[in-house]
Amino acid sequence: MAWARFARVKVIPEGFGRVKVVGGVPVIVVRFGGVFRAFVGVCPHKWYVLCDRAVRGGEIVCPGHGERFDVASGEPRVGKAREPLTSLRVEVRGEDVYVDLPEGVLERLVRATSGPD
Ligand code: FES
Repeated sequence: MAWARFARVKVIPEGFGRVKVVGGVPVIVVRFGGVFRAFVGVCPHKWYVLCDRAVRGGEIVCPGHGERFDVASGEPRVGKAREPLTSLRVEVRGEDVYVDLPEGVLERLVRATSGPD
């Protein structure tokens, strides 16, 4: 995969986030401190999909079991998740936000969420 348009800049106000499926992958883009950041929008604890209202006070809060991820790094703070959110490259081009989905990200997500064979 490659760069894909995610949304208009104006639909992600400061301090908020937006979740959208891009190329089959849930993606969350947040805007905090004037900076956009993007992550695969799936919690690495038990694979709940994050939601638009997950961004609160500098954290991304998982709707599953309440893990709180640092909005800048994606690192977990509570301890339920042992891995950070998967970070993605993000760019603002004019009035639009773009995200870069690396090759194989969907296949890795499907494998991770499928459990043991
Ligand atoms: S699925 Fe996110 S904290 Fe459990």
